[in-house]
Amino acid sequence: MIACKVLHKPEMKEAAKRDKKIVNTVFANLEISNKIKEMAKNYKYFIRTYGCQANIRDEETMAGILNYAGFEKAPTLESANIIILNTCAVRENAEDKVFGEIGKLKTLKKKKECIIAVCGCMIQQTHIVDIIEEKYRHVDLLFGTHNIDNLLNLLEEVYEKKIRLIDVESKMGEVIENLPSVRLEKYKAFVNIMYGCDKFCTYCIVPYTRGKERSRKMEEIIKECRDLINSGYQEITLLGQNVNAYGKDLQDGSNFAKLLENVAKLNIARIRFTTSHPWDFSDEMIEIIAKNDNIMPAIHLPVQSGNDDILRLMGRRYTSLDYKKLVDKMKKEIPNLALTTDIIVGFPNETYEQFLDTLKMVEYVKYDNAFTFIYSPRQGTPAAKMKDNVTLEEKHKRFNELVNTVEKEAEIRANSYIGKIVKVLVDGVSKRNPDLLSGYSEENKLVHFKGDIHLVGQIVKVKVNESHLYSLIGELVNE
Ligand code: 5AD
Ligand code: SF4
Repeated sequence: MIACKVLHKPEMKEAAKRDKKIVNTVFANLEISNKIKEMAKNYKYFIRTYGCQANIRDEETMAGILNYAGFEKAPTLESANIIILNTCAVRENAEDKVFGEIGKLKTLKKKKECIIAVCGCMIQQTHIVDIIEEKYRHVDLLFGTHNIDNLLNLLEEVYEKKIRLIDVESKMGEVIENLPSVRLEKYKAFVNIMYGCDKFCTYCIVPYTRGKERSRKMEEIIKECRDLINSGYQEITLLGQNVNAYGKDLQDGSNFAKLLENVAKLNIARIRFTTSHPWDFSDEMIEIIAKNDNIMPAIHLPVQSGNDDILRLMGRRYTSLDYKKLVDKMKKEIPNLALTTDIIVGFPNETYEQFLDTLKMVEYVKYDNAFTFIYSPRQGTPAAKMKDNVTLEEKHKRFNELVNTVEKEAEIRANSYIGKIVKVLVDGVSKRNPDLLSGYSEENKLVHFKGDIHLVGQIVKVKVNESHLYSLIGELVNE
């Protein structure tokens, strides 16, 4: 049996710790050993990412580190010698998918020499690490969200010593600058502005898997944005679990409104940001968004529930009235605003009447789209300890009812675009019809239209002729 070396295992108690100290910024200095150089000659890598944009950005960083060391990307997972599954822990079905994939890799491992690594949020949980250590012995390497910068050393140890290695620390985390990265897209880029989350919503695992809320220094973010603009990027999405809390931890007067304003001044065509928490969305932010044409009028504003008692149990820090007032203010100030949201149904002991308040909220706000989820207990979170009297069958029934209401409102919103001219950043050939191009409008609507391939990467005007639930069809207009 192959030996398993355990450097660190995650601990929920450690993961929940928070202090007020300003977080260190560490400037990475990657060293490439001879062993890694030798390994890079023979081994190709493939990264499969699950979950949110933070994970996509982590994939870009891991790919950047591997390329910097001389590794090449394999065209498929099956042809790779280093396979990295970059996982998500937010709901059980996301974890089930990963376990399914890990299971399949057993056959591949028997056929060829390869290193199988699993990282990301799922691996920041003690019980998951224990399961993989015991039951999935073909997995060679487990690392967490805090030590991506150490990837080369971890791979070298597994390669050289032919051991299994577990190095997953639970900690508040640092801000690590200077890591290389490969951008997965040519015209649209994600820029991390902060890491972690301190909100501790009672259902959510993220504050335990990604550490303390910590912001990057404003000058580092601006530098990254400037480099992207110089390389021809048209759209930047500022990323954080909670972008509105940006800068609070830096104690130097930085805040999200100032950051938005400074990024807008760089004259990039489009700025987006995600995710916003309704609790700390300030009037100043609304004003800056309204004032700057290059900040897109599309805000993702997770509501989670429309009922005050459930919101309190979720630890969301706002009432349904606070949320509605915020939405009203946004709609009044920001022209053409498109709102999207996240909603959870079937939180422990949610009554049908409480659920109806969520439907009322959907009808009140009139979202362009809503991501809807059935509550999934996450081990170690406060909500997972609550006794739940709602059956899974009832939760599914409510979920279907919610989807119907969301779709009804989304359809009305989609229809309202007919006849309008929207500006579209062209992504490429449409996935649904090879004769059409597609891209996203300022309001983040997917738009299909006929056009020449050389338009990819440009912003064009399209007149909308037809609307579907989540996409629009139109024709180019020359102005
Ligand atoms: N169960 C179901 N949905 C969840 N989310 C977060 N945690 C859970 C959970 N335990 C949803 C929230 C969040 C989105 C990213 O995932 O709606 O906004
Ligand atoms: Fe999770 Fe709440 Fe933080 Fe969002 S704000 S990541 S839902 S704890």
